[in-house]
Amino acid sequence: MNQNLTAIAGAVAMILTTAAMAGPREDLLAQYATSAKAAATGFSGFSAARGKAFHSQTFAGGKPNTPACTSCHGNDPRTPGRALTGKTIEPMAASVSASRYTDPAKVEKWFKRNCNEVLGRECTPQEKGDWLTYMSGQ
Ligand code: HEC
Repeated sequence: MNQNLTAIAGAVAMILTTAAMAGPREDLLAQYATSAKAAATGFSGFSAARGKAFHSQTFAGGKPNTPACTSCHGNDPRTPGRALTGKTIEPMAASVSASRYTDPAKVEKWFKRNCNEVLGRECTPQEKGDWLTYMSGQ
């Protein structure tokens, strides 16, 4: 009971702090943090380093021609990627593409689609938060 209350108070504090900084990116991160806390034991925040590793990690569960996020988005988040159709994808780094991660529905839509293609499952809130933290700092 006490532990639950502490966790809820922590989540509320985090949302309030994040809301003060405003911005859809921060709102998304706060949502993922709340979900990660509810889902996993021992959630202790997001990590850009983990997000970076996740971005280039090779997975076996998805489609064979897209084993990693970098299959389309490329190794350097500051340079454009390329879809399988050959179409150019704007850089994922928030510092280069200012409109990135400003539309939560778009972010969720592509997380769902791309995670299924690469991992063969949806990404967890922890994975999404780590990845978004990495890209937001790039
Ligand atoms: C098959 C190619 C492909 C792969 C693999 C891929 N993506 Fe994408 N991704 C796209 C395309 C195409 C878009 C939409 C075009 C755009 O936003 O420039 C996109 C957009 C996104 C967006 C939305 C960005 C925004 O502006 O809101 C996120 C988030 C994203 N991808 C995350 C990932 C993650 C995480 C992985 C690895 C698990 C991944 N993608 C792997 C092709 C891919």
